[in-house]
Amino acid sequence: MSHFPNGFLWGSATAANQYEGGWNEGGRGPSLSDVTTGGSVNSPRMITWIDKYGSPHASPSHGFILPEGASYAVLEDYYYPNHKATDFYHHWKEDIALFAEMGFKVFRMSISWSRLYPTGMEDEPNQEGVEFYRQVFQELKAHGIEPLVTIWHFDTPLYLEEQKKGWNNRELVDLYVKFAKTCFEEYKGLVKYWLTFNEINNTVMFLDMFGNVANDEAFQRAYLQLHHQFLASAKAVKLAHEIDPEYKLGCMICGIAFYPATNDPNDILLNRNLWEKNIFYCSDVQCKGEYPRFAKRLWKEHDVDLAISEEDRKILKEGTVDFYTFSYYMSNSITTHQVEDKAGGNGVEGVKNPYLKYSDWGWAFDPVGLRYFLKVIDDRYHKPIMIVENGLGAYDKVEEDGSIHDPFRIEYYRKHIQEMDKAIEEGVDLIGYTTWGCIDLVSAGTGEMRKRYGFIYVDMDDEGNGSMARSKKDSFYWYKKVIVSNGEDLA
Ligand code: BG6
Repeated sequence: MSHFPNGFLWGSATAANQYEGGWNEGGRGPSLSDVTTGGSVNSPRMITWIDKYGSPHASPSHGFILPEGASYAVLEDYYYPNHKATDFYHHWKEDIALFAEMGFKVFRMSISWSRLYPTGMEDEPNQEGVEFYRQVFQELKAHGIEPLVTIWHFDTPLYLEEQKKGWNNRELVDLYVKFAKTCFEEYKGLVKYWLTFNEINNTVMFLDMFGNVANDEAFQRAYLQLHHQFLASAKAVKLAHEIDPEYKLGCMICGIAFYPATNDPNDILLNRNLWEKNIFYCSDVQCKGEYPRFAKRLWKEHDVDLAISEEDRKILKEGTVDFYTFSYYMSNSITTHQVEDKAGGNGVEGVKNPYLKYSDWGWAFDPVGLRYFLKVIDDRYHKPIMIVENGLGAYDKVEEDGSIHDPFRIEYYRKHIQEMDKAIEEGVDLIGYTTWGCIDLVSAGTGEMRKRYGFIYVDMDDEGNGSMARSKKDSFYWYKKVIVSNGEDLA
């Protein structure tokens, strides 16, 4: 007997920059992912740009800062997988019909900011963009699927990145709120659940990963960017509640379960400190409306000065979220000791855990870690929780008859759903679950197509060849069974 409550929101998640495509259609402006090339598990994605003398460059995307006088550019010799992505822009009707066939109760997607405001600076939104999302939401509703909409999923308009220095600039707060206001007003009655920022904690969590030792300047920048995003999020939450009291707003945290790799007290303390910096820092502000006390320690470590005003504090207090959401792919073991056997994934880096198995991309398979994460969050915030990303990026093989057998993906989900079930039994207020990438899409980390998450296969490769035809994997039928039985039938 499973413990999923009636009305549990089963579904899956996507993001505009990885799925939508149509990058230069319908009046859309470019965003950073449109000048980001493909990469692989061993080679980083590159950002392409032109220096002030007109020479072209490609630089690793992690930590990239555009030099003075340079501009971002789409260069001829490179392939940009996010331009077409897997073309929801032209397949939305067909795709939504497939989601409905699986029985989705909820579908998570994001709105591309530059489709509504091509540069971010316009006074009025691009009507073609507004109408595109309206018809998508109407179609979802017609199938009885509740949209869950991320307002910002890594895609600030390129103009704002280039001309305004992105989230370093406080002007972005009100530009974001203008964009969010358009969403709340235009889609009233069509959307109920909104997430303000995807994986907001990445900005600071990723800083000292990848073997990088970030300097104080980088930390100052990251904490300031976050402060601006917190203000933008809080203002948007308050505004949304004014526009429609029925709206429910959530934070979205990249949920890594950190573990100490040894019982050395120094490892235990390091682990606690990482939870504070990487997980609690952001969600405390968004859920409790104020910075946690330990923030002072984090700022002091890197000489960070945020000059937070009384007015800022008031804004944060008035815009707390209604529910907590997070992505969960894996745990990460950390230590103060020198080790040879490193492990990583989803932006973090640690030590190989001998009790876990790892994917082809090196991500730990740890369903119990999901239950652990749920319990910690439930205990700390006492808010309804949704897991809004969870999944396995893996290679798929299309058989001669067109079928795709993905027992490893089914096993991954089965184990995670079993742990969710136990968490609910233990009292966690879990209200929904959207797996990551119900349909194959471009990997955020590597830009690959071959790293597939979908229940639905898309005929498209890493070089952009393929018909974009959709086909069902074995997991499609399995997830359908899970949903119809409300998590009872996991066989
Ligand atoms: C999350 C992001 O970090 O992980 C998604 O919110 C991303 O955008 C997902 O796609 C999986 O990561 P990747 O690198 O395998 O695409």
